[in-house]
Amino acid sequence: MISEAIITTIKKARRIVVFSGAGMSAESGVPTFRDDLTGLWQQYDFMKLATPEAFKADPALVWGWYEWRRTRLLAVEPNAGHQAIARWQAHYPLTIVTQNVDDLHERAGSYNVIHIHGSIFAPRCTKCKTPYEFESHYVQEPESGRRIDPPSCKVCEHPVRPGVVWFGEALHEPDLRAAIFAAENCDLVIAVGTSGVVQPAALIPRWAKDKGAVVVQINPSPTPIDEVSDYNIRMTAAQALPQIVEALNLD
Ligand code: APR
Repeated sequence: MISEAIITTIKKARRIVVFSGAGMSAESGVPTFRDDLTGLWQQYDFMKLATPEAFKADPALVWGWYEWRRTRLLAVEPNAGHQAIARWQAHYPLTIVTQNVDDLHERAGSYNVIHIHGSIFAPRCTKCKTPYEFESHYVQEPESGRRIDPPSCKVCEHPVRPGVVWFGEALHEPDLRAAIFAAENCDLVIAVGTSGVVQPAALIPRWAKDKGAVVVQINPSPTPIDEVSDYNIRMTAAQALPQIVEALNLD
């Protein structure tokens, strides 16, 4: 049950940022990196797979891993948490800043989603940065995963890379700027399903707090965001968000 104080605070807010992390998609059946290394991938450390160095050293290994993850994402659906946010957004202009490289917010009907860690569905050329379109015929990767050579850019023939931000890489400047602007100009942040440890994304609730915003966190477990949150809802995303949206009486 969400407290009356939280609902009143949310109702008062005029500019709201939803800041989501891997826990947002967990109830859709998307495991986090940390839980996701099965089959072929078990022997690897994700901190080593999700880096520019890993791609340089073994492009087929890294591209194969992302293809395996991408095809698994195509097989899942947005959960009740994504749907609640989309329903809310149909009545109210929320800004969504997500660390997730999936498209589940959009598939639920959300718009204005800033993907600060990029998108697994938006690969680009390593050299000329031309976006790469996936072939329309689609091969389901075997459950154990496999190595796959990355495709070549249709313009300059250099290898294509996943469209995600790897560990050790800078965030895409326009996305970072948009996220900072949203954080610094909102009066409420809802931080949902994020461990709040990956920088600089984890600073978003702090930037907002520093400018006077209220921070509400939805996470079954404590995180470093507890230090700045005014309210902690110790529930899952798919439990808490529908309850919040219901209590807002939007219709
Ligand atoms: N509902 C809400 N929160 C949940 C749920 C759920 N159903 N299940 C798990 N959580 C919480 C966990 O308690 C944890 O705090 O979600 C958080 C997930 O943390 P991480 O896996 O660290 O995800 P995130 O914060 O998004 O990580 C940031 O690190 O994995 C890299 O680049 C990747 O964007 C990602 C970044």
